[in-house]
Amino acid sequence: MIRGKFITLEGIEGAGKSTIAAALANALQERGISVRQTREPGGTPLAERLRQLVLHRGEESLSAEAETLLMFAARAIHLDNLVRPALERGEWVICDRFTDATRAYQGGGRGVDAALIEQLAVSVHRGLEPDLTVLLDLPVTIGLERARARRQAQGESVIDRFESETVQFFERVRARYLEIARRDSQRCQIIDASADPDSVRAAAMSALQRLGS
Ligand SMILES: Nc1ncnc2c1ncn2[C@@H]1O[C@H](COP(=O)(O)OP(=O)(O)OP(=O)(O)O)[C@@H](O)[C@H]1O
Ligand SMILES: [Mg+2]
Repeated sequence: MIRGKFITLEGIEGAGKSTIAAALANALQERGISVRQTREPGGTPLAERLRQLVLHRGEESLSAEAETLLMFAARAIHLDNLVRPALERGEWVICDRFTDATRAYQGGGRGVDAALIEQLAVSVHRGLEPDLTVLLDLPVTIGLERARARRQAQGESVIDRFESETVQFFERVRARYLEIARRDSQRCQIIDASADPDSVRAAAMSALQRLGS
């Protein structure tokens, strides 16, 4: 059995990750590929419980290090129970956020030591890396405005621990994402996500050509 491909989508809030994840999944399914669409933090029942813990704005403080450990705990559960088994069955996995999000948000945004993040990544990934990462890049104010409009349209009134962050925080996240993608240009494709939906979708589709299928 040939292992499936592992594709991850990254970018700040409102960049269009969920939109592009669905578009890529549809396009691949039309080509007869079986696709598993998933997200982080979360993706399995237990990991989704950790997602709720880490996103919820509660009474107690949650340090940046504690947040990082919870992200990797959820990731370990997700990789063991969903991602690796699916890839081994030959399915392709499209994941909305992965370890680059921890590098960008906890590392870039909150200042967690990059060496700590890489050490946790080595233990939790156990050699698994995405075959392709699509970074949807756009100015922070545009992303935040899209996310706000979507929340309003869907009648979501509660905002989570990240959605309540400042523009400066998201500028640091965006800058770290771009640094990662430029440094690892073999794996990462940067797409201008401020473009219209059709153009962004077309750019994401052409990024698939890097996978040779
Ligand atoms: N290229 C685009 N141009 C304009 N609007 C877009 C574009 N792509 C997505 N949108 C809209 O912007 C909103 C945010 O998109 P989406 O939910 O896909 O982003 P996301 O990156 O998954 O956000 P989050 O991190 O908050 O989950 C949605 O309402 C979506 O329809
Ligand atoms: Mg989303």
